[in-house]
Amino acid sequence: MHSETQEDIARDTLRYDPEGAVVLVGGYGVVGAEVARMLRARHPSMPLVLAGRTPARGSALATEVGATLQAVDLSGPAPLDFSARAVIALVNDPMDRLLRASTQAGIPYADITRWTARVQQALAWMAVEPPRAAVVLASGWMGGLVPLVGAALARELGGASAIDTAILYDLADRAGEDSIEFMDRMHVAFEVMEDGQRQVVEPLSGVRRVRFEDRARRVVRIDTPEQLTLPMVLGARTVSTRIGFSDESATIAFQVLQGMGLFHLLRGERFRNLRRALLRGSGQGGRAVLRIDVSRGGESRSATLVDARGQAHLTAAGATLALERALGLDGDAPPRGVVFPEQSASPGRVLEALRSLGVELEVRGGADAERRAA
Ligand SMILES: NC(=O)c1ccc[n+]([C@@H]2O[C@H](COP(=O)([O-])OP(=O)(O)OC[C@H]3O[C@@H](n4cnc5c(N)ncnc54)[C@H](OP(=O)(O)O)[C@@H]3O)[C@@H](O)[C@H]2O)c1
Repeated sequence: MHSETQEDIARDTLRYDPEGAVVLVGGYGVVGAEVARMLRARHPSMPLVLAGRTPARGSALATEVGATLQAVDLSGPAPLDFSARAVIALVNDPMDRLLRASTQAGIPYADITRWTARVQQALAWMAVEPPRAAVVLASGWMGGLVPLVGAALARELGGASAIDTAILYDLADRAGEDSIEFMDRMHVAFEVMEDGQRQVVEPLSGVRRVRFEDRARRVVRIDTPEQLTLPMVLGARTVSTRIGFSDESATIAFQVLQGMGLFHLLRGERFRNLRRALLRGSGQGGRAVLRIDVSRGGESRSATLVDARGQAHLTAAGATLALERALGLDGDAPPRGVVFPEQSASPGRVLEALRSLGVELEVRGGADAERRAA
């Protein structure tokens, strides 16, 4: 297998074309296909390009949404060579090749694929090579929806001292090969902000029971980028994200495997397939459910998001809003340089946008919560 080198990357040449297409790299993957459909529904005349290593796999989708296809391999020897009005990264970019080529060309850019260490890596590159156009790093859970909704609730309260998110992960849901890489990081300890202090915690630790819809579920810690960014953007003293699996025995089994150090032992290429088999669900399709609780000074707001079309669809909603932000299509001027979704000037708009995208959303904690957040 070819591994891209710094010499390959130095030959990448992308060009900004304000009249050109939005290029979706990974655009016919599980999440990418949902983003392509959503963009087409919201922007009927926007030219779209679906890019990946084997574009023939995207031909039915390209016909369905009226997009063109392009061969792009982020890990291959061929230089990246295309023009775009904007780029959206829907596949891991381990060498930051797409990020750097896009930002050096002044192309607005949105990314939903980075786990926390990779968000930090992107920020380091942006310090070395300052971007000339908007870079929306929307890798928080569900394409940045968790921090965006958290910001909307915090706006309602005049700030946030604690933001706690609980995710119910449906093991029947669809997840592409590239998504499983994220779940692969179950053995890596990470930092969270707890009561104003940075603390290192183990994945799958810190059990809580959180009520989702009809019943309480067991949820455990997972590393997500909003735990890095929300304390900085909103000044929250405690930010936590936890996950529970639809089948509670799976949550417990993962905790046991983690406790025995098995995820650590199974790291590395040799056990890749075994590891993935452990983490892969049935892939038939499921519901995405998550709950965000924000509190400040004895007041609290809680939002429950349910997407009957699953986590790929909900992530696509986040990705679509991130792209619209990068292009200034959300009613605000396009940002200059790097932003996170929760830095939106009007996060309350997200609640309406999500409903229009088919997401069920219930906000509790004050009758006029949504009106004042908007
Ligand atoms: N922020 C969030 O909350 C969130 C939630 C879900 C998913 N995600 C992220 O979204 C990404 C996509 O997930 P998915 O489930 O849609 O995965 P997927 O179905 O495997 O899709 C990956 C797509 O990228 C293409 N691709 C793979 N390797 C490539 C390369 N080297 N160069 C160019 N294109 C390449 C694939 O097509 P070819 O094989 O033809 O190249 C495919 O179209 C993952 O990184 C995942 O972590 C983020």
